[in-house]
Amino acid sequence: MDKFVIRGGNPLVGAIRVSGAKNSALPCMAAAILTEDPVTLENMPQVRDIETERRLLQSMGAEVELREGEAQDRTTICCRALSDPVAKYEIVKTMRASSLVLGPLVARAGMARVAMPGGCAIGGRPIDLHIKGLEQMGAAITQEHGYLEARADRLRGTHLVFDKITVTGTEDLLMAAVLAEGETVMENCAREPEVGDLAALLTAMGAQIEGAGTSTMRVRGVTGLHGAQYHIHPDRIEAGTFLVAGAITGGDLVVTGCNPEHLGAVIAKLREAGARVEGMGADAVRVRGAEKLRGADISTEEYPGFPTDMQAQYMALATQADGMSLVTENIFENRFMHVQELVRMGANIKVDGKTATVRGPARLSAAAVMCSDLRASASLVLAALVADGESILDRVYHMDRGYERIEEKLSGVGAQIQRLGNLFAPRMSETISEKTTA
Ligand code: EPZ
Repeated sequence: MDKFVIRGGNPLVGAIRVSGAKNSALPCMAAAILTEDPVTLENMPQVRDIETERRLLQSMGAEVELREGEAQDRTTICCRALSDPVAKYEIVKTMRASSLVLGPLVARAGMARVAMPGGCAIGGRPIDLHIKGLEQMGAAITQEHGYLEARADRLRGTHLVFDKITVTGTEDLLMAAVLAEGETVMENCAREPEVGDLAALLTAMGAQIEGAGTSTMRVRGVTGLHGAQYHIHPDRIEAGTFLVAGAITGGDLVVTGCNPEHLGAVIAKLREAGARVEGMGADAVRVRGAEKLRGADISTEEYPGFPTDMQAQYMALATQADGMSLVTENIFENRFMHVQELVRMGANIKVDGKTATVRGPARLSAAAVMCSDLRASASLVLAALVADGESILDRVYHMDRGYERIEEKLSGVGAQIQRLGNLFAPRMSETISEKTTA
């Protein structure tokens, strides 16, 4: 099982490039199910979740080429022959986003068998809103032996109002609606940029969608979709993670290949905490550490609010800020798994329900720590970059799910970080089957 060895103390200086967004790539790969034509996606991140989804689509009969030729970041998916529209538990248990194939499978093949994802480290992660929406569109859904079975000759357009804002719920049902009979109005949709990415791909494939990226979308169903080529947007959470890395180490870091417009809440909060952050044109942001970081509160909200996927990373920064920071997690019920590990490194954090009180600055000392989920891992990397001494981070396969070659990227701007083990080694497939993750 791979580990990271990180020696703290170096300010990060230089330019660091962001990869394509994992949480755009996953729904866009699922969208290929909706057509018999090839769908080519560019700027794809080479991370474990993408490998998992490639295996999932292949297990259903799709042809998936990853990293074609010189364009290492290009993937072509062709679902001409979907011989087995089943998302098996062995794969779904390692990545709950597998439920994204539910809507497209029912829309394309008239049926789907998808293992119920089950919970994960950060919470119960139900998909009741996905199911409710499909039933409202006319799908007959049964649940037994841990599997969901959905059937519909052809889904019918309807007026959906989400009880809660759900990112993959919005994406799943958008993909169901594009081939449904008639018009579907979807209200209280997620407005995350990744939803906009998916809607842009679907439109390129011939779908009729209005209001993408807003809380109300209007979809006119069509009888078929064709293939397309699409460039995935940059990963705003990876970009935000790097901005925190520049701030926490007191460095001078330019994050390139990102979209500053998707980072509004994160940039505003870093400025409030005292970091100097400035836009550098349309696709780069520069961050410089502060003489003294100041405590500032965050409360996670759906986009465009402060992202829950940046909560753990911000908490690491807050441990170095002067004064108190209240960190409130409103989206998931168990997303403080990083707290105990940060406390073991010397952080002063008290959790009460959904709010953690962070007092700083606390001198962090290197330790052997355990990664528990994707963003908690990022938090521990950030803490280790400023801790005194050499930290060992175990179970970094959590990190590999959503960060591409993170140790190479960080080393390139001065971090002292090494991987013990070998990324994507054959045993990676063993760990994929052994582990359940967010
Ligand atoms: C997406 O997860 C992201 N994953 C998550 O990123 C992200 O944290 C989350 O959105 C929130 O922004 C992908 O896009 C692949 P939700 P998702 O449905 O769609 C409840 C990462 O770190 N809910 O928006 O699963 C749910 O329990 C990952 O990259 C229901 O109750 O999240 C949660 O409390 C982690 N019923 C809230 O809604 C449902 O049917 C928001 O969940 C669906 C969700």
